[in-house]
Amino acid sequence: MTTYITKKSGKYWPSKEMKKIAWVKDDKIYKKAEKNPVKFWGELAKEGITWEKPWEKTYEEKLPYFTWFKGGKLNFCVNALDRHLDKNKTALIWVPEPVKEKTVKLTYGELYDKVNKFANVLKKLGVKKGDVVAIYLPLIPEALISILACTRIGAIHSVVFSAFSAGALKTRIKDGKAKILISADGYYRRGKPENLKKKVGEAVKGTKVKNIIMVDRIQKNKKYRGKYLSFEKEIDKADSYCKPELMNSEDILFILYTSGTTGKPKGVIHDTGGYATQAYWTTKWNFNLREDDILWCTADIGWITGHTYAFYGPLLTGNTTLIYEGSPDFPNPGRWWDIIDENKVTVFYTAPTAIRMFMKFGDKYIKKNKLKSLKILGTVGEPIDEDAWEWYFKKIGNSRCPVIDTWWQTETGGTLINALPGVGPFVPTVAGKSFPGTRHIVVDKKGKKVKSGKNGFLVQLSPFAPGMFHGIYKNHKRYVKTYWKRFKDKYDTSDGAFIKEGFIRVTGRTDDVMKVAGHRLSTAELENALNEDKIVNESAVVPIPDKIKGEVPIAFVVLKKGTASEVLEKKLKKDVDKAIGPTARPVKIYFVDELPKTRSGKIMRRILKNILNKEEPQGLATLVNPKCVEEIKGVVGEGIVKK
Ligand code: WTA
Repeated sequence: MTTYITKKSGKYWPSKEMKKIAWVKDDKIYKKAEKNPVKFWGELAKEGITWEKPWEKTYEEKLPYFTWFKGGKLNFCVNALDRHLDKNKTALIWVPEPVKEKTVKLTYGELYDKVNKFANVLKKLGVKKGDVVAIYLPLIPEALISILACTRIGAIHSVVFSAFSAGALKTRIKDGKAKILISADGYYRRGKPENLKKKVGEAVKGTKVKNIIMVDRIQKNKKYRGKYLSFEKEIDKADSYCKPELMNSEDILFILYTSGTTGKPKGVIHDTGGYATQAYWTTKWNFNLREDDILWCTADIGWITGHTYAFYGPLLTGNTTLIYEGSPDFPNPGRWWDIIDENKVTVFYTAPTAIRMFMKFGDKYIKKNKLKSLKILGTVGEPIDEDAWEWYFKKIGNSRCPVIDTWWQTETGGTLINALPGVGPFVPTVAGKSFPGTRHIVVDKKGKKVKSGKNGFLVQLSPFAPGMFHGIYKNHKRYVKTYWKRFKDKYDTSDGAFIKEGFIRVTGRTDDVMKVAGHRLSTAELENALNEDKIVNESAVVPIPDKIKGEVPIAFVVLKKGTASEVLEKKLKKDVDKAIGPTARPVKIYFVDELPKTRSGKIMRRILKNILNKEEPQGLATLVNPKCVEEIKGVVGEGIVKK
């Protein structure tokens, strides 16, 4: 078995074998890129992406907006499919959850055929360049076909996580004013079919959706009527070629809703040329993809990681991507490792929360497999602790594969801070350096750079990375307020970090955004869901650390009427399921008489956090109602959270 790392002075570095195959072998690239990042990205964009018309200006900045490759024209789908057709190679491997069902493989040619046909279906339904198409699909091949078909005709896709509730889907459909929705009858989760059709029916009421295209995932040959159409039947009737629409580099490729600090999710906008460039190069260099590599990124299409690394990145580079429909522990916790062995996955990319879950299951599900095909491991989505890193490195990587800890966000479109496999070092809990051609520093509250090793706020400096978002859909004010107000000409990531010897360690969010099992959720969204209930006067949600999920939400609720009970707690948890989805369900709800507030009425969540963590609450002097702190302490009791 080849070993891709070596240990030197207590740290892991790429081995000779890794250097041999690495696209980037030494750290000179950082200096070269830093000298002129715009030129650097310009060269990369020319080499990695196929342009129909060259751009006039590589980078233009008029903060808070900036554009890459202005005047350049391209089609994203051509870059992801057409240019790889001559390879006759597998583009997608789909593993369904039921063990009895066969793995499906689609070559670039087969995918091209389906995408062209489905693009024609959308066109026939009146979808035009710039229209928003909502997609509510699980991890099945049709998800990939749908997003690519949108990019072929220049429609903007807006994917909604299939585990989100009907309410969450409706909000997103309405915000984007989508007229077409693509969904499925359901999908498999832990051996059981989950019904999506019912949620779809509820979600489209009161929206402008005029057609819903349904994939038969659970039951074949279903009959659809009225607004509903069958994905399969429409594709069968469609013409086999659809001319790709010529798009401007800065035209919108997709919207993806993500959580911020208010109750309303924000539609993060990504453009075409800049996003494609960053997706291409980060996929190629971070995972060192060569001709025969197979990348498995376990993220769902409902999140940015699914967009960029399960689908778009590996197709732009002409590689094979693997997706798996179901639960990691079905029919047993060895499923993922079996999938790696059966399909000879070479690059595996997942979230720390999954790693911690597998650690809990113990090693017995891994031993029988040797995981020999693996070359590179990656993590994303939340800080990874040393134990989880070591376990991943030793048990999954057999102490021979680098672990690439990648920091990025929905807003950044692609990874931004991580070690490169051919350069290293690979240090537990340290993400690494800014990707060549991008710059991040750590600043204090006033935006002044802090000393090495000191904690502060992580910001990105101009020129901003090509994959960066281009605003919030129809909400300029929120874009400015959230990202550009605090540090003016620097992009505010809302993350805390410190830099030591030039390497960045990200410590976590500094705002009211939680990461629950790697899923990004806002405390305000949960509070809104709870406050919707007539008997709730107000609520406050705070995250507490959790061994497996990283963080979990705890709610404090003040009732208008009625008395606290377990039945009521259950009912309120259901309210959250309905408004957002079970991912967001609070693990515990405490009923209290008052919430700690400042004179201006702001709820002091920090004090609630202190109480839960059994710490001495800080800043009581600023409270208008300090007495409530004792009451809350009493309710929380010993500070032990029962699950
Ligand atoms: C967190 C996910 C530490 C961070 C791609 C960020 C991380 C948020 C890492 C974005 C990492 C992501 N180490 N923290 N390697 N990667 N984060 O939008 O707090 O779902 O702001 O994008 O995840 O979450 P999002």
